[in-house]
Amino acid sequence: MTDEQHLWSGRFDAAPDADVFRFQASLGFDRRLLEDDVEGSLAWAAALAQAGVLTAADAESIRQGLTAIREAGRADPAYVQGADEDVHAFVERKLIERVGDVGRRLHTGRSRNEQVSLDLRLYLRRRLPAVQQAVVRLVDALTGRAAAAGSALMPAYTHLRRAQPVLAAHFFLAHAAALRRDHARIETVRDEADALPLGSGAATGTSYPVDVEALARRLGFSRVAANSLDVSSDRDFVAAMLHAAALVMVHLSRLAEDLIIFTGDEFGFFELADSVATGSSLMPQKKNPDPLELVRGKTGRVVGRASGWLTTMKGLPSGYNKDLQEDKEAVFEVEDTVVASLQAMTAVTASLEIRRLADEAAAGGLMLATDVADYLVHRGLPFRRAHEVVGGIVRDLVSAGRDFASLTPADWRRYHELFEADVVRRITARGAVEARTTPQSTNPAAVQAALDEARSWAEAHR
Ligand code: ARG
Repeated sequence: MTDEQHLWSGRFDAAPDADVFRFQASLGFDRRLLEDDVEGSLAWAAALAQAGVLTAADAESIRQGLTAIREAGRADPAYVQGADEDVHAFVERKLIERVGDVGRRLHTGRSRNEQVSLDLRLYLRRRLPAVQQAVVRLVDALTGRAAAAGSALMPAYTHLRRAQPVLAAHFFLAHAAALRRDHARIETVRDEADALPLGSGAATGTSYPVDVEALARRLGFSRVAANSLDVSSDRDFVAAMLHAAALVMVHLSRLAEDLIIFTGDEFGFFELADSVATGSSLMPQKKNPDPLELVRGKTGRVVGRASGWLTTMKGLPSGYNKDLQEDKEAVFEVEDTVVASLQAMTAVTASLEIRRLADEAAAGGLMLATDVADYLVHRGLPFRRAHEVVGGIVRDLVSAGRDFASLTPADWRRYHELFEADVVRRITARGAVEARTTPQSTNPAAVQAALDEARSWAEAHR
């Protein structure tokens, strides 16, 4: 081997052990950062020229060499490969191959420690918008289902026990609300990554008079990182990304769980499209929700990456440590998983058939107990008393296997003198949702307003 087979070979007498070298090399995955590495190096070369460290002519040949490397990478996905330790070493080797000795001046005053932080920040800035777009498309599918649901009713559950009637539209918009928080959270990840690490050197800064403010502006960062020693080991922006992604997956997993349950025979509120279901190799009648189960299953891997990354960070001494190289596989795997899961969820949601429940009683029954209590409260009874009265009615109805709809005005009257003839008309599933008054409630007008608002949000973020 030559003395510069690796970026640091000069100091060593022996060639690296092949297995160990392969173990610690990252080119196999950080090749995804080619674009970003080149972008950072183009800016660094310009900054060195401005500082008088590179001649204009040298800076120009480096610029041409780097641009050609970027083009080659774009033209051929297999371009980035070799025995190089990482993408930074790859780019430097290719640069020297193209422009000769001048290429050896590019790394002046710079460390891979700040370079890799820069690359990953640029990468996230470049890729997170696509994750956000995938979130918006799912919100769009959910608002589409909310619109399709119209006035359809279903039970709302607490403890997975029937609680109160709710508009099916309200159910879809509930999941959309969670995803909109995810969208905003991903925005904060972009803010977190929005600081220029260059100028930090390996740990203590650089000795060349580089204008870091100008460099930040050129690379589109709103600020320069405050402390060079912090920079070399700061991967808070990675933790933020993994956390935001883990919450996306938690939300997808809950939606998946709801849809698995609600499309099952025992519930039957919705029907999965054949195109997104799978069959059984043995049981001819089966229609399985495999994509939903997989989304729920993959949530474990993303949550694991988030907690795994915090574990990797927690014991690190100040300054760069190679442990930090683990950040990239976490980010890439999580990005791929989240985007694929969002796409699958969108396909399943958009094609979901909403089954109108046979009659309003299916969303009514004993779920109307709160509304019966409210009826008494409106007529002056303290709520705690009303709760007790209605509890007594429910006890009788449960043992008789009946519900409120079976009670005649005279039956009602026997339970309390405040019950009048109108109780029969008021205590219905439809009456229950119409009785809600707050803007976040399932009142039909409130749900329509929420749907309109969610649609304009999706429109504005498309
Ligand atoms: N491949 C390394 C990483 O991903 C790049 C930084 C290497 N720095 C170093 N001092 N070995 O973190």
